Amino acid sequence: MNIILVNILKHPVSNGWTLFWLLSSLVNIAITSAVSHANLASPEDISYLIGYSVRWAIPFIYFVVAASSIRILFPGIVSNWWIRNRKYVGLVFAVAMAWQAIFIFLLSTFHRDYYFDEVFYFRDELEGSVGYIFLVAMIATSFRAARKRFSTLQWNLIHKSGVYFLWAYAFSVYWWNIFYYQYNEIYTIPKYHDYLFYWIGFLVFSLRVLAWGKARDNDLFQYTAFNNKGFLSKLFGLTSISLAICASATGSLWYEPVSRLLLTPAWSNELSLWLPFWPLEPFLPLLLLGIGVSILTQPRQQTITSLQK
Ligand code: HEM
Repeated sequence: MNIILVNILKHPVSNGWTLFWLLSSLVNIAITSAVSHANLASPEDISYLIGYSVRWAIPFIYFVVAASSIRILFPGIVSNWWIRNRKYVGLVFAVAMAWQAIFIFLLSTFHRDYYFDEVFYFRDELEGSVGYIFLVAMIATSFRAARKRFSTLQWNLIHKSGVYFLWAYAFSVYWWNIFYYQYNEIYTIPKYHDYLFYWIGFLVFSLRVLAWGKARDNDLFQYTAFNNKGFLSKLFGLTSISLAICASATGSLWYEPVSRLLLTPAWSNELSLWLPFWPLEPFLPLLLLGIGVSILTQPRQQTITSLQK
């Protein structure tokens, strides 16, 4: 079985540019087929195509976000393959997003009234534009010639911020679809893909938090070492993680009071008009998860210093 898996993961079709062409052809075929069934004179159809093309993009950005965490949490041949191919899979994300950009262009150019009446919302536009700026910067710096012009620090800054920003955009769209829109203003029943993309988005970032915890303190995953941790850190850490899990599934219950509280200061209310994602409601459960993991883990340096004393 292992040999079969190794062969599959080493096969040229599952790697590099061949993988890119294969996956991007699949995306292109699916989207052109949807275009052929759509009426481009209808703004509703173009709007549908915007959503449809993004749904083809999301799995690939989630794949990219999970890559480094999977390598830390589950080192092995699969995670090596995963990390080796994240650039090519990331470029497939860009292909699907290029379709979304074309449909946005068509909608905003040929159906301006519809676009400004039904779609345009300043903060969304700002978040989306920042997302596309990151995407273009990431594509441009994915190739050696451009990469050479940036220091490792600059390159990492562009790619890490870009990947997390794009993940955050997609994840928050599905959070609002599940926990807000069906209870407020526009009564829309979430579809199965809203749940799917929300939960996978939650999972991939949770893996990131756990990988960060493991890099900080390997004892997080060692039963005996974990058991030896202080009672209070276990109590607060595990409580925070449990709250995070509960909050991740119950956004509609706590959204209103929490949001009202966070927006009480005038400056915060002001920020919410233009600062992407502010006041971060979709991300609060993940913040609780991060707090829980940080309580349960100790930076290595601290442990070494206390041993030396
Ligand atoms: C200025 C740039 C952008 C504009 C104007 C825009 C516009 C739109 C519109 C109109 C829809 C709704 C389509 C429908 O009627 O269902 C949509 C859906 C969506 N967009 Fe964007 N978008 C932009 C950038 C982005 C970026 C950078 C991302 C990052 C991943 C993104 C992710 C999504 C997601 C996840 C959906 C929901 C798709 C679904 O139906 O499942 N968008 N966008």
